[in-house]
Amino acid sequence: MTGTKKLYVKTYGCQMNVYDSERMAEALGAQGYEQVESPEGADMILLNTCHIREKAAEKVYSELGRFKPLREANPDLKIGVAGCVAQAEGEEIMRRQPMVDLVVGPQTYHRLPSMMEALGRGEKALDTEFPEEDKFAHLPKARLPKRGPTAFLTVQEGCDKFCSFCVVPYTRGAEVSRPADRLLREARDLVERGVREITLLGQNVNAYHGAGPDGGEWGLARLIREMARIDGLDRIRFTTSHPNDMEDDLIAAHGDCDKLMPYLHLPVQAGSDKVLKAMNRKHTAEQYIRLIERIRAVRPDLHLSGDFIVGFPGETEEDFQATLDLVETVGYGTAYSFKYSARPGTPAAERAMVDAAEADDRLQRLQALITKQQRATQDAMVGRTVSVLFEKPGRMPGQMVGKSEYLHAVHVDGPEGLAGQIAKVEIVESRPNSLSGRLLG
Ligand code: 5AD
Ligand code: SF4
Repeated sequence: MTGTKKLYVKTYGCQMNVYDSERMAEALGAQGYEQVESPEGADMILLNTCHIREKAAEKVYSELGRFKPLREANPDLKIGVAGCVAQAEGEEIMRRQPMVDLVVGPQTYHRLPSMMEALGRGEKALDTEFPEEDKFAHLPKARLPKRGPTAFLTVQEGCDKFCSFCVVPYTRGAEVSRPADRLLREARDLVERGVREITLLGQNVNAYHGAGPDGGEWGLARLIREMARIDGLDRIRFTTSHPNDMEDDLIAAHGDCDKLMPYLHLPVQAGSDKVLKAMNRKHTAEQYIRLIERIRAVRPDLHLSGDFIVGFPGETEEDFQATLDLVETVGYGTAYSFKYSARPGTPAAERAMVDAAEADDRLQRLQALITKQQRATQDAMVGRTVSVLFEKPGRMPGQMVGKSEYLHAVHVDGPEGLAGQIAKVEIVESRPNSLSGRLLG
């Protein structure tokens, strides 16, 4: 390969897409591509797309339209669409936007090198299959550089839960867990490259059941405990989970595994049992609340995060009140709330929508409550000492930013050498989206 070609990757959606984009950039790195920050002057543009909520496909088409002048200026520019919109739309993308040379679904990234060869021959390439093999095991890699102190590691993909509103089981396919030895190797490699905190990712990560090196099947708790034995790896997190897969050992790990951070994203989606049933969540609000109590019993300082959908078909004001009640009862450190959006092909898409203005109003009321709780949780940190993994300089000169064990962004006055270090910080102020503190010792 002569010369370096420029690759621009734009990532939408979840952290799994962030991980996938990194892996694709590495694979293309092995083919002589160097990642750049802007599409201008790039030889290859790759959009890694998300289909979870409304207008995702439309956003992709309008983004693609914006690349037209770049393609006119450089007829050799290659344009690819990856991710869940690629999976859902397939060939339709090339029909609607003939500029697109490559469409690759989330389960076939390991076939990128041969697809790129096809592009090199002036052909187009499309692959949206669900093959058996582990895409990450087959991805070639460029020489891997040093990297920042935090990293994502996808351990599980796909989902078998079929919540009635969700496209994930269709776009990402059935649950697949990666073998534990490969994950441990990847974790050690990350640590050697400077990583101190790893977030284990999966659409339904706590359903992880990968082949263990001992021939048995490992659950997520076992994987976390083994990963915690890696010297130099100081923090482990995981996201995102389904309440029905919070097994006893995983709950116990929150109490006895020091490296597992006291922050848990455990979506419940709604507080009304009628709505939960219609969502096919297979648990009640009460079961969720009891589960939280059990986890808090072993880790009282746990910060809880969640996802909520308002305006699900059939949701009445009373149902919505049940969601507000649940949020009051649980008390979230942070939470994400979304207005229901009908996803083509999902069972809920067949049902009548809640009035749009009503849904907007509920979203605002829920967000106001969540913001209040978030604020209160943050304010309660003032005066406390937390442990911060510093990542990078802050916006102000002489400032460094990192994350506390509770995932709050924390600013301090300190030297750049702090990057990659974990230090104790006394929190002195709570600001809208971050905390500021004083380095101790
Ligand atoms: N409409 C609105 N929100 C959705 N989510 C998933 N599908 C939909 C949908 N059709 C939300 C859920 C999920 C988060 C990742 O996105 O809350 O937990
Ligand atoms: Fe979608 Fe999560 Fe439900 Fe799976 S568990 S179907 S990913 S919302």
